[in-house]
Amino acid sequence: MADAPNIAPAKTPGRKKLFIKTYGCQMNVYDSGRMADVLAPLGYAPTDRPDDADMVILNTCHIREKAAEKVFSDLGRLRALKTAKADMLIAVAGCVAQAEGAEIMARAPYVDIVLGPQTYHRLPEMVARTARAKNDPAAGQKGVLDTEFPAEPKFDHLPAPKADGPTAFLSIQEGCDKFCTFCVVPYTRGAEYSRPAADILREARGLVAGGAAEITLLGQNVNAYHGEGARGLGSLIRALAEIDGLARIRYTTSHPRDMDDDLIKAHGDVPQLMPFLHLPVQSGSDKILASMNRGHTRDDYRRIVDKLRDARADMALSSDFITGYPGEADRDFDDTMELINEIGFVQSFSFKYSPRPGTPAALMKPQVPDDVKTARLHLLQQVLDIHLRNFNKDCVGRTFDVLLTGSGRYPGQLVGRSPYLQAVHVMADPKHIGTIVPLAIVSVEAYSLGAVWAEDSFGRISCGEPVPTSPGNALAPVVSA
Ligand code: SAH
Ligand code: SF4
Ligand code: F3S
Repeated sequence: MADAPNIAPAKTPGRKKLFIKTYGCQMNVYDSGRMADVLAPLGYAPTDRPDDADMVILNTCHIREKAAEKVFSDLGRLRALKTAKADMLIAVAGCVAQAEGAEIMARAPYVDIVLGPQTYHRLPEMVARTARAKNDPAAGQKGVLDTEFPAEPKFDHLPAPKADGPTAFLSIQEGCDKFCTFCVVPYTRGAEYSRPAADILREARGLVAGGAAEITLLGQNVNAYHGEGARGLGSLIRALAEIDGLARIRYTTSHPRDMDDDLIKAHGDVPQLMPFLHLPVQSGSDKILASMNRGHTRDDYRRIVDKLRDARADMALSSDFITGYPGEADRDFDDTMELINEIGFVQSFSFKYSPRPGTPAALMKPQVPDDVKTARLHLLQQVLDIHLRNFNKDCVGRTFDVLLTGSGRYPGQLVGRSPYLQAVHVMADPKHIGTIVPLAIVSVEAYSLGAVWAEDSFGRISCGEPVPTSPGNALAPVVSA
């Protein structure tokens, strides 16, 4: 998973400037927006330059060692900025803050606030406390550390987010009780919590009223959703689909164990639900899946994919993979490659196993040597890349409904999203931004598609070709299993 982009928080006029750097997953992107929202009433307005900021927040990720290390190198750079601007506030939020709060305070004493993901609603109070301590050095307070898991859900105390363009994230669930042996998330985000359906529907209506046409429902285990007022994620999606103007619904990240029949059925019944699902499998080896405590076999995964494609034939899948998990032998890795070729994932994230402190897998034996992890990762990525390119190539000649989201890189060009989350470029008037238009795909760049307006023989915009009823070439394996 790549670092999320630096977020430009909601635009609010103010005297003070706030810079937020977001690492990690989309939950962090959503949370960064919420932190900006709670700070807006204190007069903080966004800036995209840390050297211009009165307050800098690093919203961090602990998932792999590299992600966590970046935080300390970024803090080193911020220290220099703070030396030049003594009243600058530095806060560290997110999963590194949760896991290594005390260490951050010790290693980087110039950090003013360390706050875990469940305490963002208390940020204004922490800022006020820090300011008081600065004005009264006699109080002797060094910094604020708040990594509690408060009983009251933060969502009840955070302002509703405003739409910032045609696509929006909406957090519906947080935390994880699955305890995969390699993963820190159950420790950094805490136990699973699902928001009540009524709150989610209210937030979704607000986002649509503000111009969002596509909402991605977020959760560390989004399909474990069991909030009050809904019978599961399928039922919540059906309720959301009733909202006028909400043209597209997505959800991420799902766990295979929670892909229940009602949710699968929703993929067939609810046209707003996009035919693209990120469903991480991690490994294709039953031995490794069991050791990871994933709670499913490779056959279970295959069956889920078959059911999804029965419900909606044009369904495309993406996944996460880990190479070099403890005990992974060549045979296990071959099983993963075989599954990749069988399913034909159209886009994926893959990582070398990174031992994380406090997780069971970090202590398992044998650990796989780094050069083996790397070699397997390269092989895996080569094959995933072939699948991705083949899928993109097979899109040429098709017509997709594309949600135009903004300006492209060249003058006169717009960029949008296909149903499969591919970036699509087209020359078009900016007035179309925020609308969904049928576009004929005519070319493929490395990782994006080029399109022209799809017009019928009368020169009018057509309503788009039906998507193929079978996966066809687009999803076929590139290497036989
Ligand atoms: N909840 C999601 C994943 C969240 S973490 C799920 O269950 O699939 C995102 C991805 O990071 C995981 O899917 C996994 O592939 C990867 N990951 C997590 N811990 C890791 C570790 N210790 N080393 C390498 N990759 C890891
Ligand atoms: Fe981590 Fe597993 Fe939970 Fe996903 S399901 S967040 S990989 S523990
Ligand atoms: Fe990273 Fe925490 Fe998300 S560890 S992936 S920011 S839940």
